[in-house]
Amino acid sequence: MASHDRFRVFGGSPLRGEVTISGAKNSVLKLMAASLLATGKTTITNVPDIADVDIMADLLTRLGCTVIRSQSQVSIDVPQTPGHRADYDLVRKMRASINVLGPLVARVGEAEVALPGGDAIGSRGLDFHIKGLEALGAKAHIEHGYVVAEAPHGLTGAVIDLDFPSVGATENIMTAAVLAKGVTTIDNAAREPDLVDLGEFLISMGANIQGLGSPTITITGVNELKPTTHATIPDRIITGTWAFAAAMTRGDITIHGARAEHLELPLEKLASAGAIVTTTADGIRVRMDVRPQAIDVATLPYPGFPTDLLPMVIALNSIADGHSLVTENVFESRFMFVNELSRLGAQISVDGHHASIEGVPELSGAPVEAHDIRAGAGLILAALVSDGESTIDQAFHVDRGYPNFAEQLQSLGAKVTRE
Ligand code: UD1
Repeated sequence: MASHDRFRVFGGSPLRGEVTISGAKNSVLKLMAASLLATGKTTITNVPDIADVDIMADLLTRLGCTVIRSQSQVSIDVPQTPGHRADYDLVRKMRASINVLGPLVARVGEAEVALPGGDAIGSRGLDFHIKGLEALGAKAHIEHGYVVAEAPHGLTGAVIDLDFPSVGATENIMTAAVLAKGVTTIDNAAREPDLVDLGEFLISMGANIQGLGSPTITITGVNELKPTTHATIPDRIITGTWAFAAAMTRGDITIHGARAEHLELPLEKLASAGAIVTTTADGIRVRMDVRPQAIDVATLPYPGFPTDLLPMVIALNSIADGHSLVTENVFESRFMFVNELSRLGAQISVDGHHASIEGVPELSGAPVEAHDIRAGAGLILAALVSDGESTIDQAFHVDRGYPNFAEQLQSLGAKVTRE
């Protein structure tokens, strides 16, 4: 991983032009992990060209799968009996590795998955994942830095009420319950579009799932699933990033392949900041001619405002007209990136999970560092509206979520290089 790579940005250019949205990172990784549920070759299309897809491919290869990646497609040939251990050297690079847990317990009857690392955005427990698998009859514990789960005689359906609609826990429970005996009900389930995509993928493999996109998901277990072919949904967080970029730089971006219905609240917020948001035949267009008005935002599980767009909304508010309050309700350490944004001259004070922001007319370029994917993207947006030059170190974080970001920014008229 080239951690010395950085983006160099000269601020001041409005972003104008067209982009096309690729498949969602937070969907494709889960689809790849869930392919473990069926022997044979599953093909996933609309796969984004991001580093995390390679990490998941390595993980599946180590579990005995043959993974072939070509252009925007990945095929995964799953053996009759996959391995059951996901080692720390791979899992530490990517939180989504934990998504092999549910499929392995269901399919192989045992799983050992290293406790994940992932982004520096706060403690990300696994208690809901573990409790959920235990409710389905698995024996699970943590040992030597690994989650060890066993169900040698298979899983049995259960009623599971999540304390918080965790995306990852809902996914692991759902991908285990599809092969359990009987009916599983997940109450207070996550409703994110990525999770719905995973559910539809499982249905195309032969799973019986009702209630996707609602707080109650009902899964009736089947004996066996079959390999499938499935297209990944477009990435709503990248879509949102371009929408905020258009508004902040007072530009005009047409975003092809975007699904406006997955971003209702962020687009409403942008409209209240003064942006002109319109839907097009195959996506959305966001334009802005004036300085944005400050907007108050509180992040919440879907359909609330996505926590992954928090850095973008703080970056916008930093140069907006007026004062704003931004509240983070999902990950406690997201605000780490505020220190970096302050280096660009943003006026922000943080108190617990609230950030109070006083907009300034312009930021001032400086060297900063990305600590996670979305913070990196937010800092690049802020650098685009900063006077002079900024460098954003630790570019590899951004590569994990944004395919060809520098090239796409250049095509929209930004002065950005990657070095
Ligand atoms: C996923 C996304 C991430 C997004 C997040 C919320 C992927 C790879 N990542 O992360 O980009 O920001 O959803 O939309 O898809 N929690 C517990 N115990 C658990 C599980 C979660 O306490 O067992 C807590 C977490 O610490 C966090 C909150 O619940 O505070 C939400 O986490 P969760 O929804 O599980 O997020 P991820 O699936 O990790």
